[in-house]
Amino acid sequence: MKALTWHGKGDIRCDTVPDPGIEHTRDAIIRVTACAICGSDLHLFNGVIPTMEKGDVVGHETMGEVVELGSGVSNLKVGDRVVVPFTISCGECFFCKRGFFSGCERSNPNAQMAEKAWGHSPAGLFGYSHMLGGYAGGQAEYLRVPFADVGPVKVPEGMPDEQALFLSDIFPTGYMAAENCDIQPGDTIAIWGCGPVGQFAIRSAFLLGAERVIAIDTVPERLAMARAGGAETLDFREEDIYDAIQSRTQGRGADACIDAVGTEADAFASFDSLIDRAKVATYLGTDRPHVLRQAIHCCRNFGTVSIVGVYGGLLDKIPMGSAVNRGLTFRMAQTPVQRYLPRLMECIERGDIDPSFVITHRATLEEGPEFYKKFRDKTDGCIKVVLKP
Ligand SMILES: NC(=O)c1ccc[n+]([C@@H]2O[C@H](COP(=O)([O-])OP(=O)(O)OC[C@H]3O[C@@H](n4cnc5c(N)ncnc54)[C@H](O)[C@@H]3O)[C@@H](O)[C@H]2O)c1
Ligand SMILES: [Zn+2]
Ligand SMILES: [Zn+2]
Repeated sequence: MKALTWHGKGDIRCDTVPDPGIEHTRDAIIRVTACAICGSDLHLFNGVIPTMEKGDVVGHETMGEVVELGSGVSNLKVGDRVVVPFTISCGECFFCKRGFFSGCERSNPNAQMAEKAWGHSPAGLFGYSHMLGGYAGGQAEYLRVPFADVGPVKVPEGMPDEQALFLSDIFPTGYMAAENCDIQPGDTIAIWGCGPVGQFAIRSAFLLGAERVIAIDTVPERLAMARAGGAETLDFREEDIYDAIQSRTQGRGADACIDAVGTEADAFASFDSLIDRAKVATYLGTDRPHVLRQAIHCCRNFGTVSIVGVYGGLLDKIPMGSAVNRGLTFRMAQTPVQRYLPRLMECIERGDIDPSFVITHRATLEEGPEFYKKFRDKTDGCIKVVLKP
């Protein structure tokens, strides 16, 4: 089959690889009808995620048709259209039973690698390094889905792929980011990053009752899409973000701040972001947490900082003094997608949101490598690309 594979920094290729087959009784094989490139894939593309190997099949936002089932999967039939969460979860362990699917303690066969870096291992993920399971990803013609009786959810008849696809990741992720803010009537939520995740966080904050959303980025079309979603916008290259948020919140700060940027924040946003860049380039640091620092400073006393942007290692100069003395709450996770998917599917069916608003480009799998570049460089107005194998 054809699949997008990782070959090193800046090198994604469309290769021919062996077709996946059933390996366990709880597996399913999906013929992929649509998949997408995520901001998290850019961290792979930019070479900042360790334990990738040449030839690894990437991709974790995938949907398609069931073509083969292991004997242990009784809730799906061959021919069903399903959307597949990016988190691989057994459904039965200590964490899955509590709804913390992305903390599954049985889906990462390489758990000891993650334990070394992080103390404990999270769940395995599709197409996201050997440390997180070494599973082949879904930017491919076919995908093997382990624990297929827990992950994939059937797409209702009549719902097009483009409306259902983002239930695999970015819609639940944006929603979790907003839900973790514990939004109260009248709240102002500040959101860093107007990429696809930020866009869903903006709309989810309003769905959950926020009065105002202040969205921060510098890319004009991304800011415009944020305004179309009801947000007020700030350009971090044009104005001082702290001052601008202060002046919009009676000098108190935002009730909650969402970091939807993560470890690859723009290096030219401020002095500290430039230093972060230099430290990572010289192996003196692992991450570039400028946005997290700013979010902490801009959050009101006893407010919440909700982190969905991905960080990987040890973050320098995080203003814990500010956070402790002012009683901030921190919430964060790789999204336990299975926890949110059913209720967000209902949101789409009710017409509360049409997730396809975020799509700017459609392409084939062969065009995938070119679109990794477009999405990374934000050229041609690219905000979200859907690949149709
Ligand atoms: N927690 C999860 O489960 C989960 C799931 C999906 C994605 N993510 C992460 O969410 C983040 C965003 O994903 P995306 O798909 O929207 O990616 P993206 O790269 O398209 O978007 C990031 C945006 O942040 C903006 N940005 C950069 N520096 C900034 C700054 N200083 N202030 C404000 N904005 C800034 C960029 O211009 C860009 O528009 C990534 O880190 C991704 O890995 C996490
Ligand atoms: Zn993702
Ligand atoms: Zn589990």
